[in-house]
Amino acid sequence: MNNPDLTLAAETRSVLGVPDLLLSDLEPLYLRRSGTSLLIDFSTGEAALLHFGADLGPALPDLSLLGDAVPHSAFDVPVTLGLIPQASSGWRGRPGLRGHRNGQAFSARLRVVSVERSGGERSGGEACSAVITQSDPEAGVSVRTEIKINDGGLLQLRHRLDNDGAGPYSLDELAAVLPVGRAATEILDLTGRWCRESHPQRQPLHQGTWVRSGRHGRTGHDASLLLAAGTPGFGNRHGQVWAVHLGWSGNHESFVDAAADGRTVMGASELLGAGEISLAANASYETPWLFAAYSAAGLDGISDAFYTWFRGRPHHPGVQSGKARPVVLNVWEAVYFDHRMPVLLDLAESAARLGVERYVLDDGWFRGRRNDQAGLGDWYVDEDLWPGGLAPLIDAVTGHGMEFGLWVEPEMVNEDSDLARAHPDWIAGPAGRLPERWRHQQVLDLVNPEAWQYIFDRLDALLSEYRISYLKWDQNRDLTEMGHAGRPSVHAQTRAVYRLLDELRLAHPDVEIESCSSGGARVDLGILERTDRIWASDCNDALERQTIQRWTGMVVPPELVGSHIGPTTSHTTARTHDLSFRAITAMFGHFGLEWDVRHLADSERTELAGAIALFKQYRPLLHSGRMVRADEPDPALRLHGVVSHDGGEALYALVSLATSFAEVPGRVCLPGLLPDAAYRVEAVYPAADDRRAFLQAVPPAWLAGGVEATGRFLAESGLPMPVLNPEHGLLLAVRRVTAAAPAAAGGHPVRKS
Ligand code: GLA
Repeated sequence: MNNPDLTLAAETRSVLGVPDLLLSDLEPLYLRRSGTSLLIDFSTGEAALLHFGADLGPALPDLSLLGDAVPHSAFDVPVTLGLIPQASSGWRGRPGLRGHRNGQAFSARLRVVSVERSGGERSGGEACSAVITQSDPEAGVSVRTEIKINDGGLLQLRHRLDNDGAGPYSLDELAAVLPVGRAATEILDLTGRWCRESHPQRQPLHQGTWVRSGRHGRTGHDASLLLAAGTPGFGNRHGQVWAVHLGWSGNHESFVDAAADGRTVMGASELLGAGEISLAANASYETPWLFAAYSAAGLDGISDAFYTWFRGRPHHPGVQSGKARPVVLNVWEAVYFDHRMPVLLDLAESAARLGVERYVLDDGWFRGRRNDQAGLGDWYVDEDLWPGGLAPLIDAVTGHGMEFGLWVEPEMVNEDSDLARAHPDWIAGPAGRLPERWRHQQVLDLVNPEAWQYIFDRLDALLSEYRISYLKWDQNRDLTEMGHAGRPSVHAQTRAVYRLLDELRLAHPDVEIESCSSGGARVDLGILERTDRIWASDCNDALERQTIQRWTGMVVPPELVGSHIGPTTSHTTARTHDLSFRAITAMFGHFGLEWDVRHLADSERTELAGAIALFKQYRPLLHSGRMVRADEPDPALRLHGVVSHDGGEALYALVSLATSFAEVPGRVCLPGLLPDAAYRVEAVYPAADDRRAFLQAVPPAWLAGGVEATGRFLAESGLPMPVLNPEHGLLLAVRRVTAAAPAAAGGHPVRKS
């Protein structure tokens, strides 16, 4: 909604030369939703970021009285923290905009031109958003910023920079930032590597800038899926937390900038190569979306904001779409490149008998692909291996009632491929030489329209010819030294990949796509806008997965996180785990198997079929409920669960990561239930007498038949837990039995029905 009273054309302002006077009439922008608010003041002529965090209530004080004090040896007026922090307003922290015109000194002085608001408090409508346009006519640039707070409190912000000047403008950086409350004293972010993605690191917040740079050309195994700052010791369910994520799959930076003037901002930007974005007159550049959340109740509140946003999307897969996430069997760790038909058929039959619902044929099916050294780019079914094409296998799979999925890696090319031999110039790189190989492969230059079209056509042909319901879309190398036509090209390549996915989805709307990137090297909300799940890691070791999934799950809800039961002895760590631990770990995700299930012992087959059935029973809850994680003091133990939004049921996993310092775990709290409702808690897996899982003379009495307690008792006092062997889990099902009468002081919260 454009409000003409509040809009002043740039020309008018510069002719009148009194912008500040008139803009002081512009009322502040105050977006409020789901307990979160953002406050921007315009009285200086700039869009001044005053607050992002807790909802401040309906009434605001006179903001013109709230400017900071001016210290000695400083600018003569209070320094504004702008929506685009800039030196022209005295900001000496990390600038929001950097660029130049033909190498000449460039300084912008952006001033607000218009503010369009919609929904929220003002209209009583659902939306809560605004578009702010700022301009500097002398510098010849303007920036249009879209901001919205979604249901659940997740804020989205992105800028578009327009080159209004006559000549080209070279952009070095355009960042999206938000203020962080002064109470924040600690930073938490994530890092990782192949088979060990999404591990947290914490540190005190000092003055200065903490920057996480991703120069992998893809999101990266070490990418910080979430950058958070919070009050001392903020935990899963306590403390104030501010957090940001950049929805982008190319080079990027996220940062916390604690300036000398005492203010702290958090933000992120695309990391651009030298000369990568050169805007001709009237051309524009748009930043990726910055996603930001605030929680007054620890990291679980941040997850709530992200999950609510994900699940509110019309195309979100799973419970909301009416189609449950199918149990997967991926053949990779079962057969690798051994694509003999009898083996694959056997596997399909065994999988179907166990209750699998989707069968995914991994790498190795296309021309020349007998190992990982050749074939990428030749997206034709290998005639030698598959004389009848893929149809016989697909018919068998679908005949067993399963969907069929196929692995592809469309962005890559082996030098040993017909494609590379025919089009050596389609390999991306610097002029005159090839980048270093990685897994024997190079990157296909999808900025080249012919290469892009070839890939689109091949995938379109495969999806048209075969009954393929799912693509495992892989991307197995860093995009180092990316170049197209002599310029760095990660930005253009990333956009080209997005367009490829977008157009294939348009052409084949029923095909689901997984984003895999040597495991979890491409997990971000840019790729997840156009894919239906991510592969969190190539590591199927349940112990490693506990941490990888816990932190990936900060942002991404379990129905989008591929999570498979791997072989008894992990192929990537050589650790051996019981089936119950592997299954309990995989259940808190988009569950599947990646294991040769043809030759299981009868007892193992029965247990596996039972675990699959158990997952299916709890799937609607697991894929729609609220994720809760206890602040468990024993570092050897973890307790996490999913609670339905109406508080009617929950499924928790107690996990022992190592041996404990204590003789017995004692009472472990089960948070997140309705405090005054009564619940029945039962241990459902493994069986209480499983000697591999437990090491105790006598288990807690409730373990055999369950126990009833109020939500408050379970959250505040907890239940005594059995002594789990290290690297084991216990699954607890919780069901509401009544709305409990308020317990009298000194009364007994535990009632036997
Ligand atoms: C990557 C993936 C694996 C598997 C292989 C196939 O490493 O992450 O899951 O698909 O490629 O080559």
